[in-house]
Amino acid sequence: MAQLIPVDPFDLIIVGGNGDLAVRKLIPSLFHRHRDKQFSDDSRIIAIGRVEISRAAYIKEVKSALMPAVSTDESEFDLFSDRLHYCYFDVNDYGAWTPLADMLIGHERKIRAVYLATPPSLFGAVAAGFKINKLMTSDMRIVLEKPIGHDFVSAKAINDQVGACFEENQIFRIDHYLGKETVQNLLALRFANSLFEPLWRREVIDHVQITVAEVLGVENRIEFYNDIGALRDMVQNHLLQLLCLVAMEPPSSLDDDAVRDEKLKVLRALKPIGTDLVKQSTVRGQYASGAVDDAVVAGYAAQLNEPSNTETYVAIKAEVDNWRWSGVPFYLRTGKRLAAKHSEIVIQFKPVPHAIFEDQNQQTAPNSLSIMLQPNEGIKMTIMSKEPGPGGFELKPVSLDLSFEETFGVRYPDAYERLLIEVLRGNPALFMRRDEVETAWRWIDQIILGWEQSQQPVESYLAGSWGPAAASVMLDRNGHAWTPGE
Ligand code: BG6
Repeated sequence: MAQLIPVDPFDLIIVGGNGDLAVRKLIPSLFHRHRDKQFSDDSRIIAIGRVEISRAAYIKEVKSALMPAVSTDESEFDLFSDRLHYCYFDVNDYGAWTPLADMLIGHERKIRAVYLATPPSLFGAVAAGFKINKLMTSDMRIVLEKPIGHDFVSAKAINDQVGACFEENQIFRIDHYLGKETVQNLLALRFANSLFEPLWRREVIDHVQITVAEVLGVENRIEFYNDIGALRDMVQNHLLQLLCLVAMEPPSSLDDDAVRDEKLKVLRALKPIGTDLVKQSTVRGQYASGAVDDAVVAGYAAQLNEPSNTETYVAIKAEVDNWRWSGVPFYLRTGKRLAAKHSEIVIQFKPVPHAIFEDQNQQTAPNSLSIMLQPNEGIKMTIMSKEPGPGGFELKPVSLDLSFEETFGVRYPDAYERLLIEVLRGNPALFMRRDEVETAWRWIDQIILGWEQSQQPVESYLAGSWGPAAASVMLDRNGHAWTPGE
């Protein structure tokens, strides 16, 4: 395990402190960092909510959610709870911020960070609230949780509003995929090894697949999700960020802007998928009732209690129009209620240029490199090998398998743990810059417009399957097949 460096004293203010994100993700992540002794005694977590409860009642609420999730005992929780504070007021009412102002007086020299775990419609107003109430410190940070808007125009409006109060280097836009250990390992794989770079190009790579598959359905977020769909929820951020890390040119350093400049160039090079291309380059799906873990689960429309045209699955054939990647398909797919929780990037290499084993009746399968993101993080390279023994060549694909858990044998910190520490350290490298978010939205907006104009329907797929058949047909047209797939 890498050495843990303590963080300077801080006040972390979580707006939306009673919400699902705060209770299920942020507080447990902070608890782990506290338990690993990264926080000084005077560092505080100040939750802001609209629910009128006392600090003691808030701590009790957190305790019942946290204790089973992090397997801790009472005494450990009590130490952590000393850091927890709570105040309630309506953030839209700028005259009502006194409880927070009172809490912050005298703490101006500490790192001050605000985490907006609220709907994006509140981002601008809350940012302004800090300014109007004179609660800003010189190197204060503000964290925006995704989604940043629902299209380019709304994202720009939010960025303008927050940007009117905070400098760009103070704004941390979260994409929690960038905090995942294996996603960062992609940088190490590509740029700490000389082996891959000469192969990382159109002459050698046939196509790339990026899959983020979930078993869970939409559950209790369905009202919110029905206005959003998989393209906005997952592709605009997580899948495009993964694509950027695979496709970008080597940055000159790990400096925040060096990496983000390279990612931006990829986003700008994405071939637009407009009305003329959506039918052949995208598939929309929605789960119907099916079997998951040996139980029958309801379909999306039945959960919603009405028919819906929202996609819970999307597959896209994307292309990066530049010298390195011209003509190489990047297949992206993500969906709810699929056959397995499975996130993977597959780099599929081209076949050998000349077959010398045909006289022995032996076929060679092209090599592939898999970067497994979840649930089992690791790297797998498939190569052809000769089966041992006399009697000529018997060829067989075999795997060189690296499991991170077996190799490093440690608990992998949750993505939010790493990202929160980066916020407190003031390092924005793992966060999305304004131009990245807006460029990603422009590309997504074209697809959505194309869907609307061509009235592209959602294709039904059985819960527990690998998605609609049309997604396999899309790859089959180019002689490709999904990995994993039916
Ligand atoms: C979130 C999406 O950003 O990512 C959710 O809003 C999705 O719909 C989640 O379930 C997936 O994250 P992870 O880390 O479980 O792959």
